[in-house]
Amino acid sequence: MKTLIFDEIDSTNNYAKTLPDGKEDVVIVAKRQTGGRGSKGRSFISETGGIYLSFLRFDAVKTENAFSIMANAAVAVVKTLAAFGIDGGIKWPNDVFVGGKKICGILIENVFSGDTVHRSVTGIGLNVNNPIAAEIGDIAVSMKEISGKEFPLKDVLATLVYNLTLPTDMEYYAEKSIILGKEITVVKDGAEYYAVAEEILGDGRLKLKSGEILSAAEVTIK
Ligand code: BTN
Repeated sequence: MKTLIFDEIDSTNNYAKTLPDGKEDVVIVAKRQTGGRGSKGRSFISETGGIYLSFLRFDAVKTENAFSIMANAAVAVVKTLAAFGIDGGIKWPNDVFVGGKKICGILIENVFSGDTVHRSVTGIGLNVNNPIAAEIGDIAVSMKEISGKEFPLKDVLATLVYNLTLPTDMEYYAEKSIILGKEITVVKDGAEYYAVAEEILGDGRLKLKSGEILSAAEVTIK
């Protein structure tokens, strides 16, 4: 695996996309990002003290297993938090929460070719020692805020990168889900309704108690 470290960059995901095809995995790390991107076209505040990385892999999985990339990233983050004494949980499909607030954002960008995920970029922004902006203080949290102490960024980064290389642990993913068995609000295609989350299927779709199966939707815990 090749590792590239930047003091400042617009977005590690953007940088990953500029790299040519290859065989070797690449990890791109930035101390801060000036144009960090979140999901749904949102920006992602990326101040010094957090970990901002992209993990670029080639032909890692078959298209039918694309969900495992999301699960792998969420599991890697939760295992990393656990290694530093913090109990995190996963909100389907791949948000990581601690104490009801988001501690990490994950943005997966895949390029498909035939039946394979030809290029996969797993972007992870983990709030470690970075300050949390006041405007998101009620929805976001950092490892430092949770524990009242600073964490050694290099050690957290090394643990996270190691965990990302482990085979996807779907049992752990389900175990750490914070929505299974809970009442949730589903926002889908402009509609909003209550449901009970029952099971995460092997392909990553969410089965509701009503029998409905969701492949993409925004869910929040009621
Ligand atoms: C989200 O929760 O909306 C996803 C946020 C993903 C942020 C990470 S930080 C590293 C990588 N580079 C980016 O520009 N975005 C991802």
